[in-house]
Amino acid sequence: MENLILAIESSCDETSAAVVKNGRQVLSNIISSQIDIHKKFGGVVPEVASRNHVLNISTVVAEAMETAAVSYDDLSAVAVTYGPGLIGALLVGVSYAKAVSAAKNIPLIAVNHIHGHIAANYITHPDLEPPFVCLVASGGHSHILHVKTYTEFEILGRTRDDAAGEAFDKIARVIGLGYPGGPKVEALAKEGSIDAVTFPQVEFSDNPYDFSFSGVKTSVINYLHTKEQKQEEVNRADIAAGFQKAVVEALTKHTLRAAENMGADKLVLAGGVSANGALRASFEAAARDKQLQLFYPQPVLCTDNAAMIGCAGFYKYKSNDFADSSLNAVANLKL
Ligand code: KG4
Ligand code: ZN
Repeated sequence: MENLILAIESSCDETSAAVVKNGRQVLSNIISSQIDIHKKFGGVVPEVASRNHVLNISTVVAEAMETAAVSYDDLSAVAVTYGPGLIGALLVGVSYAKAVSAAKNIPLIAVNHIHGHIAANYITHPDLEPPFVCLVASGGHSHILHVKTYTEFEILGRTRDDAAGEAFDKIARVIGLGYPGGPKVEALAKEGSIDAVTFPQVEFSDNPYDFSFSGVKTSVINYLHTKEQKQEEVNRADIAAGFQKAVVEALTKHTLRAAENMGADKLVLAGGVSANGALRASFEAAARDKQLQLFYPQPVLCTDNAAMIGCAGFYKYKSNDFADSSLNAVANLKL
């Protein structure tokens, strides 16, 4: 029988709704970004994000249903991101999904946002199946995971401080590029030399897969300070290129190490940072070298969207893993 899931995502600054058929077929994926609203503050303001989700959510869901040309009576379930993310933002999506579930008498599925990022790959690559090793690199997370099944995950490594995307956003701010940082740093790095300035990479003796990105951020700040004190010119493109190189190399090296040690034959990238061209090129080269199959989502599915939540929700549906009306949002939800 046909499975149709209405999915809702509101964990940060995108209000998104999608209708997903049989897990991997996207009938609609409406994304209303608040970037222009938050840009003037230099980052996402949680209170402002929540208020805009409330303003947008009904229209976004209606548009998703209309574009998919399905009626509420056709839906098998409603899936929603319940964490991790900004608590006020998450609560908007969770409340809306609970209302749809109650009003239409359809099951409610609670989806972990990180599981959604991984599932974005199932949409882009219809034949991809677990197990595989996955790097999830977003604004809030940098994890290396062993994805055992569609619903079982083991953490192999994680960042001990900043997430990779967070580092991109912070560097963008210190070199005056503004928000959102990742794509701006990537664009400027193309004009710089990757060897002009070198920033450090951190290794931990007790876990060879863990990351640290706060050191590279501090070292960019120190570099700028020293240059300022000496009244020397700085080349921002060289800084962007050197910073991006340090982050990309650490992500590639540690993930490849994990894949090799796990005996994996498939390597998967997920999360906003996986939209980065330099990261993709670095993983392409490493995967070719180690004869691993590499997968990453199409650009629109790398960053936050509801289609990925619908796909992850489908696999919870298949394992009869439903939430009830007591569902709450969990800002620091673990994997
Ligand atoms: O997955 P995502 O949309 O939201 C979270 O769940 O965090 O990821 C957003 C993060 C931001 O930190 C953004 O700067 C980063 O992904 N990002 C990028 C690129 N596009 C988005 N980082 C590097 N290069 C990019 N092209
Ligand atoms: Zn995300």
